[in-house]
Amino acid sequence: MKSNQINDKYERPLQDLRISIMDKCNFRCSYCMPAEAFGEDYSFMPQNELLTYDEIERLVIQFTELGVRKIRLTGGEPLLRKDIHLLIERLSKINNIDDIAMTTNGLLLVKQAHALKEAGLMRVNISLDALNEHTIQSMNGRNIKSERILSGIDAALDARLFVKVNMVVIKGVNENEVLKMAAYCKNRRITLRFIEFMDVGQTNDWDFSKVVTKKELLDIVSSVWPLEELQKDKLGEVASRYKYKGTNIEIGFISSVSEPFCNNCTRARISADGKLYTCLFAESGYDLRGMIRSGATDEEIKNKISEVWKKRTDKYSELRTAETAKHRKKIEMSYIGG
Ligand code: GTP
Ligand code: 5AD
Ligand code: SF4
Ligand code: SF4
Repeated sequence: MKSNQINDKYERPLQDLRISIMDKCNFRCSYCMPAEAFGEDYSFMPQNELLTYDEIERLVIQFTELGVRKIRLTGGEPLLRKDIHLLIERLSKINNIDDIAMTTNGLLLVKQAHALKEAGLMRVNISLDALNEHTIQSMNGRNIKSERILSGIDAALDARLFVKVNMVVIKGVNENEVLKMAAYCKNRRITLRFIEFMDVGQTNDWDFSKVVTKKELLDIVSSVWPLEELQKDKLGEVASRYKYKGTNIEIGFISSVSEPFCNNCTRARISADGKLYTCLFAESGYDLRGMIRSGATDEEIKNKISEVWKKRTDKYSELRTAETAKHRKKIEMSYIGG
């Protein structure tokens, strides 16, 4: 099938698709789903509102015909969705997909890593914010011990999945874990990416003063290990990449606050209930599930995606001010997909 590349208003092609397959999570990370806001009585989406695997497969096919080559499953926690390996198996049979990856908290990888790999998953990005027990347990909001995530990382490596570790760094919370985390990942030849704390959603009490910037992080790491900057891998890459001098081990910095990368943002997102969002900070999305369930044809769905993308002007992180960070009505990351 020949693909028709489409560009938005700033000539950014549609290349990547991030699909949130479930809004629930078994963690309560303070920066994403704080336990105070996502308590026992929080109402997550009922099963019938989630896109089915048939619907996801059908949408992914339309997206690949518009140029998408890279698929990432996110959430919430994607591994909580029943038989997720069956979805991956179906996606891996679709023509023209170069990359199928998942962003996960890693807890369920011990059980699932091998089946995921066998189904066609290529990569996992695993969140790990600290090694210190007190810090990690208070950040994940569920007292989950670091050893359980470390076992998940080991299981993924053992299954021959390509692994990256994501660490969200928050001032005064886990900054002092930066070097320990770097050493842990370096020893295992795993790429660690530091993520600047972002103002996603309405509940994480974000403030500029809590962000540890890429520059600060780079100074901390390079004071111990000299780093060498690497070329951007491909259009749409969110991390600036470095390697430890004299090695091939990478380390990355995702600087969405201090050095935004909207200029080459090629990502579309689908929420767990099938809405199409063209930015992590969008205020509304287009209801693709509604189209599917009211009988739209593939052609109609594809035309709608194309129409939405061609009108896209999002550049939130470049335009962020204290004012927008506070007053914009933003969607929770667990719903729209990290
Ligand atoms: P790779 O393909 O491995 O480079 O994955 P990725 O970095 O795109 O995916 P991942 O889910 O690991 O993303 C890591 C973090 O980068 C996310 O959790 C976000 O914090 C941030 N991020 C990813 N995409 C965007 C984006 O489009 N905008 C902003 N502002 N941040 C993003
Ligand atoms: N700021 C930065 N990154 C975040 N993530 C979730 N919430 C935030 C935030 N407020 C990241 C997690 C994980 C992915 C799912 O999203 O660390 O890597
Ligand atoms: Fe769950 Fe990931 Fe959000 Fe943490 S960051 S609460 S693991 S979705
Ligand atoms: Fe893309 Fe929006 Fe993130 Fe900018 S803020 S990089 S436009 S998702």
